[in-house]
Amino acid sequence: MDNLELTNQTVLVRVDFNVPLSPKGKILDDYRLKAHLPTIEYLLKKNAKIVLLAHLGRPRGRVVSDLSLNKLVPTLTKLLGRDVTFVPDCIGRMAEQTVLKAPPGSILLMENLRFYKEEVENDKNFIRKLAYLGGAYVNDAFATCHRPHASIIGLPSLLPSAAGLLLTEELTRLDHMLNTPERPLTMIIGGAKLARKMEVLSHAIFKANQVIVGGAVANTLLAAKDVDVGRSLIEPDYIESMRDLLVEAGIVGCRILLPQDAVVAHMLQENLPSITKKINQLEMGDMILDVGPQTLKVWSRVLQKSKSIIWNGPVGAYEISPYDEGTHNLANAIVHSDAKTLAAGRDTLTALRKCKLRHKFDSISTAGAAFLDTLADRELRGVKALKEAQGRRVGDSSSRKPA
Ligand code: 3PG
Repeated sequence: MDNLELTNQTVLVRVDFNVPLSPKGKILDDYRLKAHLPTIEYLLKKNAKIVLLAHLGRPRGRVVSDLSLNKLVPTLTKLLGRDVTFVPDCIGRMAEQTVLKAPPGSILLMENLRFYKEEVENDKNFIRKLAYLGGAYVNDAFATCHRPHASIIGLPSLLPSAAGLLLTEELTRLDHMLNTPERPLTMIIGGAKLARKMEVLSHAIFKANQVIVGGAVANTLLAAKDVDVGRSLIEPDYIESMRDLLVEAGIVGCRILLPQDAVVAHMLQENLPSITKKINQLEMGDMILDVGPQTLKVWSRVLQKSKSIIWNGPVGAYEISPYDEGTHNLANAIVHSDAKTLAAGRDTLTALRKCKLRHKFDSISTAGAAFLDTLADRELRGVKALKEAQGRRVGDSSSRKPA
């Protein structure tokens, strides 16, 4: 942002305010709101007029009142200690007039961008209408940077643009943790959605000294090692690539740690009897729902010796007690290590909120999918768009210089 002329400017700031909500619309976690405060405060010091652009949920191009951003205003006002004006549209005459009339130093929160399908379609006209609202653009939404949407990749093509403080901090931190960490570096990959995690695992073995794998992702890896996982959730299409991964990890010297025992039941349901079994003693009707105590003992020893730990994904069905125990004990082992710790992902953060250990992590990423994409070495579309915009600006100013 230091390279942009932002003083007294009207600045469009793309934030990620996609907060978890209760069925009654109460904000369950304001972490994502708090994370953007430094950028907003930086702009306030420049006496900028701040136009916040955000999405909430996936309304698929329709106006869904439950997904209106107006419910964030009281919390934002409290966090900022300043008035926040809600604007019930994000483009059009009324939106333009409201922004125009607001004095410098105002904060305006525009209605959910995704009430327009054009946002997700990266529609040229929509980008132009958004761009009318201001004179500069700041992207602070690391958690949405993987999306090729109008407010993420379109706006930098029309307005002088920069990365906000949160986006810069998240990228710098991840770059450091992945490329120049204090070693040993342990990565913990849990959760489900193997399609996404497969790519992460294939890169993790080149970055980390050891990778701990839990959750449903581990089931497929166990199956690839010919362990009978009973009726546990696996993704058969990935078994072959998992076998290749295990071989490759051996070649590059990365240890992959899998569960050695598991808490199993016949199905995932509250108050059903469950027992702990060794991983090679599972039977046909067994479903793995959590890691067992022996696994946690081994993993904890590894974590104690680690100097850096990156964690994404719960290692059990943490939504249902008692299958949250493994994830909670793992979180406990992480925060009791001397390592620099970083956790990310919606489920991981929910689990950490439940066991009240989040504040003990050195850093928490605001992103889920964008975080995984970065771990998988995929360039984020929003970051690419900012770089291209910067390239154009440098090109323009050098072409204006006298020979
Ligand atoms: C997230 O919550 O990960 C981001 O806000 C992106 O949301 P999306 O997956 O609905 O695009």
